[in-house]
Formats: sequence, structure tokens, C-alpha cells
Amino acid sequence: MTSQIIPVDPFDFIIFGGTGDLSERKLLPALYHRQCDHQFSEPTRIIGTSRSKMSDEEFRTFARKAIKEHVKPEYIDKKELDTFLARLSYVPADASNGEGFDKLKKAIGDSKAIRAFYLAVAPSLFGMISNRIKEHKLVTENSRIVVEKPIGRDLASAKELNDQIGANFGEHQIFRIDHYLGKETVQNLMALRFANALYEPLWNSAHIDHVQITVAETVGLEDRVTYYDKAGALRDMVQNHMLQLLCLVAMEAPPSMDANSVRDEKLKVLRSLTRVNGQEAPKSTVRGQYRAGASAGGAVKGYAEELGTKESNTETFVALKAEIANWRWAGVPFYLRTGKRLATRVSEIVIEFKPIPHNIFGDSAGNVSPNQLVIRLQPDEGVKQYIMIKDPGPGGMRLRQIPLDMIFAQSFDGRSPDAYERLIMDVIRGNQTLFMRRDEVEAAWAWVDPILSAWADSRQEAQGYTAGTWGPSASIALIERDGRTWHESS
Ligand code: BG6
Repeated sequence: MTSQIIPVDPFDFIIFGGTGDLSERKLLPALYHRQCDHQFSEPTRIIGTSRSKMSDEEFRTFARKAIKEHVKPEYIDKKELDTFLARLSYVPADASNGEGFDKLKKAIGDSKAIRAFYLAVAPSLFGMISNRIKEHKLVTENSRIVVEKPIGRDLASAKELNDQIGANFGEHQIFRIDHYLGKETVQNLMALRFANALYEPLWNSAHIDHVQITVAETVGLEDRVTYYDKAGALRDMVQNHMLQLLCLVAMEAPPSMDANSVRDEKLKVLRSLTRVNGQEAPKSTVRGQYRAGASAGGAVKGYAEELGTKESNTETFVALKAEIANWRWAGVPFYLRTGKRLATRVSEIVIEFKPIPHNIFGDSAGNVSPNQLVIRLQPDEGVKQYIMIKDPGPGGMRLRQIPLDMIFAQSFDGRSPDAYERLIMDVIRGNQTLFMRRDEVEAAWAWVDPILSAWADSRQEAQGYTAGTWGPSASIALIERDGRTWHESS
């Protein structure tokens, strides 16, 4: 089965931070793939901008190199690449003094086409750049602005950032990216729940024992020292990606896929999360930090060594138990864990159903394990439904758990698109369903802030864990205290 490509209207895509890391690794490769799938209509233009002085030709050389490095060789098509590069131009501009914005205005011209300003820059520049865009009268009815996380480092700073952008763009024009929402299986979670009659009647506290959400990485700090040490895993992963996943699992069926309908339902979940106060935090949250060990096949340094200091209390791992105080979910814990330098790279959601009420098979048949639905986001995207069956053969009634396995790659031909491809096309279409609304971001911070305060007040230490393991032993204790275990991912 192949997917159908629906072309988008012509657009101008202006990348602030056009020569930066995100543009190189994600945006230009994503746009190139969309070119290859013939999703653009003419005339579509891509304008890079940043403080670096660069000619159009130099920007094209930068883009060619980015695509060659970040797109698999089998997808490089010379003709498509040349067509793509011909769309590119470059204007140096500096938001701090406004230099270059007149030239940018000239380059855009008075085109009535859709205009997307993508801010692939540090959040501290969001306000300043959006002011300059507005000042230079670049905002049209057909304009949108796209911003990346982190939107703030707590509720107060998130509000400030949202106010700054909101002074220049209407909420319907602001696209706050959470790239997890662009992942194929994350969207499939909505399809699984709301396009099938099978699961929804069971999707509640009467039938579900608990939910686990794991986002495990094998990478360490990489070269993000300045950002990461000030953020930590709770701000970097839980406030956004993991809470968004939790929302998609827990939300009520929206009346339609209309952006505000979906976001209204997610917001209700965020507002129903039970606050973790100072007393609760040590019992229901675990902070960890990796020490030297082995990961992804080689010896790796500990976090502090990578950082180049001896001391840091920043967490590179978080496990926590969240509770949703509403009719559907009361009493069903959601266990979340995420970390760097863990045993394997895997992101998955496990829905564990309640045990059967009575076992008719007796001890000799073996254990009857509860059913589990495992939604694998990456790698090897797919869904597994674990069920009990009889072990084949004449040896009497022995029971065994097997997965009914649906690996998406086997059902669909071709490449699985990167999240950015889908999200950028949604920006052009003006579809905000997979983007976070202001109130969602703020509600997520409102839940995270008390945990951050509790950690700071109690000076809760990040517990060491050896790189290449599943985090500190306290994470295992967190779930085992409740008589449950983490699903073993491989
Ligand atoms: C980013 C975080 O948002 O997501 C990174 O800042 C993390 O720390 C990354 O590595 C994980 O994304 P993915 O798509 O590789 O799972």
C-alpha cells in the first residue's frame, strides 16, 4: 500500500537560523523529500536568513551538503535536488538591530502566497524576531510563525514568550512544534483509538490496570552542553513530548479532528493531572544521572565528565507516576520514564489490561498474564497486542503469551516520512491539530512546576546510574512498590 500525496498551495518558507543545526539536519532534508514527492505547487520559495553573511549560491551549497549528509543516498535524485535548490535564496539579517530586514522584505516582495516564518533559533530570540517581522509589515493574513520547544523553562517564562509572540501574531497563526506529534505512530495512536470500535469500550479504569510510557535514548549530551545542563530531562522531554503522548492516550474522543476540538480534549487531560506536591515528589518521582559505562556498543563517559565539570545535579533520567483525576482514569497510574544513555533506544506506550477475574486452567497451565497493547513509536514502528493462547501440541493445556504483531513497515511501501515533513506541510495547510496551543503549553508547565520546586526545595539528588542500563534502581522500585514491573523492551 502506498500513501497518497496531496499538493499544497504555493508558499514562501522563511527560515530564521537558516544556516543552523535544525535547518541542516531536519528542515532542509524534510523540504527536499516533499519536493521529491511533488507536493509543492508553483511558485514555492525557500528563503534562508541568519546573521551570517552568505550569498544565494553559498546557501545552496550549504543546503546541497545538508541533504547529501542527512538524506539516504537512495533518495538523492539529481534532477529533483537541482529543482529544489533553485527555490532557495538567502538574505543576511540581524534581529538585534533590524539590519537586513528591509532586504528580506524586498526578497519576499508583495506575494500574496502563504508565508511561513520558521524560527529555528534560540527561544530568547522569538520575541525580538517576531517584533521585527511585524515592524517591517511582513505579517499578512496568510502568514504563520513556527516555533520550537523549549517554550520557556517554567510557567512564568512560557507566558512571557507566548505574550511576546502573541503581540505580533494571532493564536491561529502560531504553530508550536512538538515533533513527537508528527511521528507516524503517534498519529496512529489516534487512528487506533478512534477509527476502531475494538478498544474504546475497554479504554478506561474498569479494564485498564495501568499505562507505561517509555522514551529511552542511547545518546548522551551530544553537543548541547549549555542548553541541556540548564534544562534536564523533566523540562526537555516530560513537559512536552511525554505529556503530549499521555494526552493522546488519555483524552476523550474529540467530536472531530478539527484542531481546537483535539486540543480542547488534550487540555482537559492536562488540567486533570493530580499535582505532585512537595511531600509526594520523593515517592512518585525519580531523578537520575548517567555515570560512565557502555552504551551503543562502546565505552562512554559519565554526564559530568562529558560536561567537563565534576559537579552537576541535572537529571538525565526521570521516572514518575502520574495520576489523572477524572471518571475515566481515576485509580489508573501512568508510569513515565525517559533518559539518556539507557540500555536501548526505544519509545513505546504500554497499555496493560486488568487480569482475568478467575483462572479456570489451574496451576499446571502456567501463569495467565494480563493482556498488553504495546504501541511502538520508534524504532520498528508498530503495534503489538499480547494475548494468551494454548501452547500447540498434545501436552495438555499449557498457556503461553504471544504478540499479535503489526509492524507498519510491512504493511506500507516506501519510506516512513520524518515528523518534520508532515508538520511543515500542516503549517502550510494551516492545520494546527498537531501543534500545541498556548493554553496546553501553559497547563503542562503548571503541572511540571511544582515537581521542579519540590526537587529544588528538598535538594532531591539525581541518583547515579551506569550508562547502558535502565536508569537508577529507584525507578524499578517506583513501579514495583505498586506490584507492577516495567515492560521489557528490546
Ligand atoms: C528533543 C530533545 O526534543 O527530542 C532531545 O530536546 C531528544 O534531548 C529528542 O534527544 C528526541 O527526539 P527523537 O525524535 O530522536 O526521539
